[in-house]
Amino acid sequence: ANSIKIGLLGLGTVGSGVVKIIENHQDKLMHQVGCPVEVQKVLVKDLSKARGVDIPSEKLTTNVEDILHNPDVDVVIEVMGGIEHTRDYILTALRNKKHVVTANKDLMALYGSELLTVASESGCDLFYEASVAGGIPILRSLVEGLASDRITKMMGIVNGTTNFILTKMMNEGSAYEEVLKEAQDLGYAESDPTADVEGLDAARKMAILSTLGFSMKIDLDDVRVQGITNVTEEDLQYSKQLGYTMKLIGYAHRDGENVEVSVEPTLLANAHPLASVNDEYNAVYVYGEAVGETMFYGPGAGSLPTATAVVSDLVGVMKNMRLGVNGKSAVTPQYPKQLKEAKD
Ligand code: NDP
Ligand code: HSE
Repeated sequence: ANSIKIGLLGLGTVGSGVVKIIENHQDKLMHQVGCPVEVQKVLVKDLSKARGVDIPSEKLTTNVEDILHNPDVDVVIEVMGGIEHTRDYILTALRNKKHVVTANKDLMALYGSELLTVASESGCDLFYEASVAGGIPILRSLVEGLASDRITKMMGIVNGTTNFILTKMMNEGSAYEEVLKEAQDLGYAESDPTADVEGLDAARKMAILSTLGFSMKIDLDDVRVQGITNVTEEDLQYSKQLGYTMKLIGYAHRDGENVEVSVEPTLLANAHPLASVNDEYNAVYVYGEAVGETMFYGPGAGSLPTATAVVSDLVGVMKNMRLGVNGKSAVTPQYPKQLKEAKD
């Protein structure tokens, strides 16, 4: 092809970051994959909305068929969110032989196994680096960088919104509602922030992380979850006086076939490295039998950091297209067993 053509589903916080990176880093993309990258069509809900990016109006559509059945589109980038209808869109894209990149952890935590199977059957890539910890390349690190090791434990902060809220409440004495609103305005929170504050977003990410890290399918139901909605300003001030910091911690531990995964507010001694991970930043400790302790740190939410992960996945797809190896990608996780089956 003379250029790689993208069909973008969604032009909100992440989608507009994707458009900016494709436009502003075209030289880097050209250098990596040897041809230009072009946004062909963009699905939105509201055509009249003002957009912070330079997209000709004829490229916008409210009809998803313009992308899923468009013979010119090589890669579909899904950054619109949602579960059931989005699953249908991605299945259709894959069956129409379009590679897919998604930032959607809600979808991948629930239907990742099915979607990856269909991708493989269709000879397409399905990459989802941005679904966990925003700009931190944690999934590739687990599946490629640490591929030779046996991971036994992961622990970290994997939700930017709640970390932002807890940081501001603790360090600046801000009120919960006020900081939640700020996190929404900055584009960190989900369109419905309930999943952030109730810990479900972090639980979805821990399910994805532990599926990849432990090479064992971990369902959302296997994750014990408690969010931050019951944490009061008084709790945080007392913790501070006692030399502790409250964080929403995701934890995953594997001992043979037994796996424990949880998300809950946790008091950390101020000297603990995760205690100084502030604002929307995320960090994940990964313990491997051979490597020992590693830690990954970076922005966990927001437009350009998340879009970096999305567009880097796109580069991975394009490199595979040039090599003709799509569908056999190293980043595609194996799903050897359901956790429940493994326990029986
Ligand atoms: P936004 O709400 O900012 O943007 C969503 C976009 O999708 C909007 O452009 C919206 O159109 C469009 N859209 C939504 N539903 C439909 C629909 N049914 N039909 C057509 N268009 C639709 O979301 P984000 O960019 O924040 O998030 C997108 C995805 O990325 C989500 O899955 C989220 O979980 C994930 N993610 C977000 C991160 C972040 O920091 N924000 C970080 C990592 C992942 P319109 O503009 O017209 O309303
Ligand atoms: N709402 C999510 C968060 C976005 O705050 O972490 C990144 O996945």
